[in-house]
Amino acid sequence: MRHFTDEQLFAQVDAATEQDADKKIVAFCCNWCSYAGADFAGVSRMQYPPNVNIIRTMCSGRVAAKFMERAFARGAAAVLVAGCHLGDCHYINANYQTKKRVEKLWKKMERLGLNKDRLQLAWISAAEGARFASKVKEMQGIVDKVSKKEIEKTMVAFSPKGK
Ligand code: FES
Repeated sequence: MRHFTDEQLFAQVDAATEQDADKKIVAFCCNWCSYAGADFAGVSRMQYPPNVNIIRTMCSGRVAAKFMERAFARGAAAVLVAGCHLGDCHYINANYQTKKRVEKLWKKMERLGLNKDRLQLAWISAAEGARFASKVKEMQGIVDKVSKKEIEKTMVAFSPKGK
């Protein structure tokens, strides 16, 4: 997919986690709903923590586990996958696959003894800027509590060598 190749998405994750990754929320937002919701929050001047780095994808279904894992392998404190509400995906039912994928990764994180709350899934429409802002605020609570040790453990678990 032009502009959304694996290499381009990996590069965006790497750029988002270049500095102070342990304080960052990497947020994958689908173009049609969540990205527009985040934009709405911004233009409406809603207050939310600034340490969220948004990566736009056309659909949350494009967010393969390898992109979420890359963010954790690079030391991100938390990862958000946000898409259209179930039933509203612009690509038929792709966000049901997103849900399955995130649930699978939650299980993997649990198996590895990692805090699965650091990976969040949210359905946010274009009109729900307040919902986006509130989700980021909620996640800031998780970021504030995550220890250096937990971040290092996750980096090892999700680094290519850690598998
Ligand atoms: Fe938004 Fe699929 S287009 S989740």
